[in-house]
Amino acid sequence: MCGIVGYVGVKQAAPILLDGLQKLEYRGYDSAGIAVRDAQAEHIEVVKAKGRLKNLMDMTDAGRAVRGSCGIGHTRWATHGEPSTLNAHPHYSREKRVVVVHNGIIENYQELRAKLTRKGYAFETQTDTETVALLLDCYYAEAAEKGLSPRERALFAIRNMMIRVRGSYALGILFGDQPGALYAARKDSPLIVGRCDGELRGHMIASDVPAVLNYTRSVVYIDNLEIACLTQDELRLYNVDCEEIEKPFTEIKWDAAAAEKGGYEHFMMKEISEQPRAVRDTLSPRIHEEEDGSRSVDLSELGLTDDDLRAVSRVTLIGCGSAYHVGVVGRAVIERLSRVPCEVDLASEFRYRDPMLEENALVIVISQSGETADSLAALRLCKERGVRTLAIVNVVGSSIAREADATLYTWAGPEISVATTKAYSTQLAALYLLAVKLSSVRGTLDAAREQQLLADMLALPDQIEQILADKERVQWFANKMSACRDVFFIGRGLDYAISLEGSLKLKEISYIHSEAYAAGELKHGTISLIEDGVLVVALATQPDLFEKVVSNMVEVRSRGAYLFGLTLCGQYAIEDAANFTVYVPRTDPLFATSLAVIPLQLLAYYISCARGLDVDKPRNLAKSVTVE
Ligand code: F6R
Repeated sequence: MCGIVGYVGVKQAAPILLDGLQKLEYRGYDSAGIAVRDAQAEHIEVVKAKGRLKNLMDMTDAGRAVRGSCGIGHTRWATHGEPSTLNAHPHYSREKRVVVVHNGIIENYQELRAKLTRKGYAFETQTDTETVALLLDCYYAEAAEKGLSPRERALFAIRNMMIRVRGSYALGILFGDQPGALYAARKDSPLIVGRCDGELRGHMIASDVPAVLNYTRSVVYIDNLEIACLTQDELRLYNVDCEEIEKPFTEIKWDAAAAEKGGYEHFMMKEISEQPRAVRDTLSPRIHEEEDGSRSVDLSELGLTDDDLRAVSRVTLIGCGSAYHVGVVGRAVIERLSRVPCEVDLASEFRYRDPMLEENALVIVISQSGETADSLAALRLCKERGVRTLAIVNVVGSSIAREADATLYTWAGPEISVATTKAYSTQLAALYLLAVKLSSVRGTLDAAREQQLLADMLALPDQIEQILADKERVQWFANKMSACRDVFFIGRGLDYAISLEGSLKLKEISYIHSEAYAAGELKHGTISLIEDGVLVVALATQPDLFEKVVSNMVEVRSRGAYLFGLTLCGQYAIEDAANFTVYVPRTDPLFATSLAVIPLQLLAYYISCARGLDVDKPRNLAKSVTVE
């Protein structure tokens, strides 16, 4: 989705803006632009280009041709108006009295546009953002008549704009007659402010941490309906009533290198390879070993007592895309172990079914970015209804993490590739911990089984490492299959949940049509699509369902399908039905997803590479979906 960067300080702004935007490229975009001015001059130069950031770099000689130490930059992912140079941000009012960059969606932009048109404003673009620029211009002019100081004028305009606008926004704003000042405001779209010291002295804004990591680690998270005013030497924060507020700086612990490729050809392969570390970091600190060698799950960080957990009458898991797929696994694992009724829903559907939420329900929102608009909206609905919420989130300080009653962080580190891999694996790990904890306090797990489950969990990182060591086999198969047109992923029970993720991974980065099917459902219609050469990936990790899945494999093979069978070591009978087989190490069947998903990630990755596609930035997709 769109990205924002801004800088005001002693250095030239344009190269910093372009570098920051480059760090946000992974979010997906179709055009980019910057607005830069000298801290003493009123003139603001705006340069925009359709397509890749490289076009903007070429136009500006990597920023060197645009002089000035104060500016804002943006990568746009079109929502209102086609991707074009005209519709690219920054947008501005007449004579660039107000220049803005915007992430989010202004829902009532048509109504505002009509009102502003009646006041004599003319619109040049099809965007909702231009409405914000012109609305700010309108209020700024009104403030000028009141004889206010420059800062008061800006605050007056921003506040009134915030009251009139419906929707979501993170905004970077320049006012033409205020050289050296940069303003920002936020509602429902992430925004941070950073402080740069030393030779970079100044302040920055950004929609996401990687954009500022080369310049600062010291950031303030801007909350909803807050305004920031930045100059080279000063940062002032205000609420929507324009009262000054104090907020602490947070130190970002990430290492800038964690957001670089580190020698890998693609972020996706780097992140696939980081999974043993990421899963270990998510599990280990939460599994305590007692003096007698026994282990237990410690989730005291959540602030939930054992009594709270015992009182939970129903668990609802919510997420989008892969995070939803984690929820499908979570439902099975939590129900099986703790016997608490559990349901899973797509965040984008949840609100529209007027969900029935019991007083003692626990709603778990799963999200890598912590900013997914539908997941955030679902969380807010639950909070409005007074239901206890828990977030499983990767990005520290993100909206979902801050708004949920409790947060269980996944320690995957920054995930840059659009297709999630390590965040998915750590989300699974977090849910296993919760499932065991819930079961343990509710007494549905005997001690020996609990110890075995924890031992199996702790073995997962090394087992993932083992699977990765044999990745060339999957690569060989992927190269052979890279021209296929249709792929079906089938499985029963947890294997169906894995199929969902395998299919999504493949289609999003290889653009091959693929579907996930509950294996038993095939013969109720879909089997008619099976013909010579169709690739069927059959998941058979669950011993109690193994024979049934093998039967389904035989059914499709006899109709011409080419079979990739994936199972746990020892279940060799799969070879009776499969043309190609991958075995993953043995674990408790409830945790098999964590292992079986690895070859599926590799399959998607290698097929995408073999087809020469942009693995990390697949077409039409964005890393963090901050619009509904
Ligand atoms: C697929 C993928 C998406 C995300 C989904 C939710 O590889 O990455 O399906 O899982 O957009 O995003 P988060 O987890 O940030 O809420």
